Amino acid sequence: TLIRQPDLARVLEALAEQGRDGFYQGPVAEKLVRGVREAGGIWTKQDLNNYRVKERAPVVGHYRGARIVTAPPPSAGGLVMLEALNILNEFNGGEISEDLLPHLTVEAWRRAYQDRGRYMGDPDFVSIPVDNLLSKSYAEQRAASIKLDKATPSSELGEPVATGEGFHTTHFSVLDGAGNRVAATLSINLPFGSGFMPAGTGVILNNEMDDFSAKPGSPNAYGLVGSKANAVAPGKRPLSSMTPTFVEFDDRVAILGTPGGSRIITMVMLGVLEAANDAPVDDWVSRVRFHHQFLPDQVQAEPAFLGTEAAKSLRLRGHDVVSVDREYGNMQAILWRHEDNSVTAASDPRGIGAARVGADAD
Ligand code: DON
Repeated sequence: TLIRQPDLARVLEALAEQGRDGFYQGPVAEKLVRGVREAGGIWTKQDLNNYRVKERAPVVGHYRGARIVTAPPPSAGGLVMLEALNILNEFNGGEISEDLLPHLTVEAWRRAYQDRGRYMGDPDFVSIPVDNLLSKSYAEQRAASIKLDKATPSSELGEPVATGEGFHTTHFSVLDGAGNRVAATLSINLPFGSGFMPAGTGVILNNEMDDFSAKPGSPNAYGLVGSKANAVAPGKRPLSSMTPTFVEFDDRVAILGTPGGSRIITMVMLGVLEAANDAPVDDWVSRVRFHHQFLPDQVQAEPAFLGTEAAKSLRLRGHDVVSVDREYGNMQAILWRHEDNSVTAASDPRGIGAARVGADAD
């Protein structure tokens, strides 16, 4: 099927020719505002004109000898993943037996997602205790409540924070000949965002408002429950789960990310665990997936996970392992080895997308 999007093409040309002013000011901005207002919305030209991209320093952590550079707030992605990896580091420096690893990984996610709901929101509005959340002493404290033989019910850990699944987020992983890298996750949140396109623009407006917590304890489309930290406020950005990530080992670099709503973080972390095991890049994107996000207090897994040894070891320890009845995720990943300067790339077999290396990639 050939799809023509001439309005969108004109908007992209305006962006290319005039930069931000081609979108946030002038005819495109006017059409966006007019389209929204005609449909009963409350946008003003000033709202668009006031919008600024903010560059923020990534958050950095360590796992099994690798330095991990990943997304800072207002994404919860980097903080949740690094907190969970720090918790794993508390168990024999992260060198964990295959039998025990799924259980400890789930327990680490449970705790880190609890902190997502408790503390995380737009850092321009709330002060997130980043240094504390990523400290060794905090990981020690969080790891202390983990039992090796038994799942901890989320209700035993205090304050709640809870899944549906959405689409239409995209991830690109790129590495050029000079070693420059990009890990970019882009979201309009639910399928077709708000389902609304101001006339004459080709631009579909997102519904990222759902990434805010509408009220304490009320789950969003992904079942995530948040606190005041992520409450709606004028000019505030919602808490994301996007986790575009670089993993820097001494001898190799991994670039990875995926769409998938609240499950993005756990998918990327499972990819990082594969990368740390020096598994081939195909394994990172194709491996069977499981997830825990504090609430609901369940290990949500792809159907193929249920019969695995990992699922058995989780059940033995009291985890409630349930199938989400379908595969999820669309991970794009690259592995660059310094020793022979070799690059391998892989695209998730579950989704659309393709991996290209070398002259092919141009
Ligand atoms: O930023 C977030 O966490 C969500 N807007 C991501 C939504 C998403 O991944 C939907 N696509 N599968």
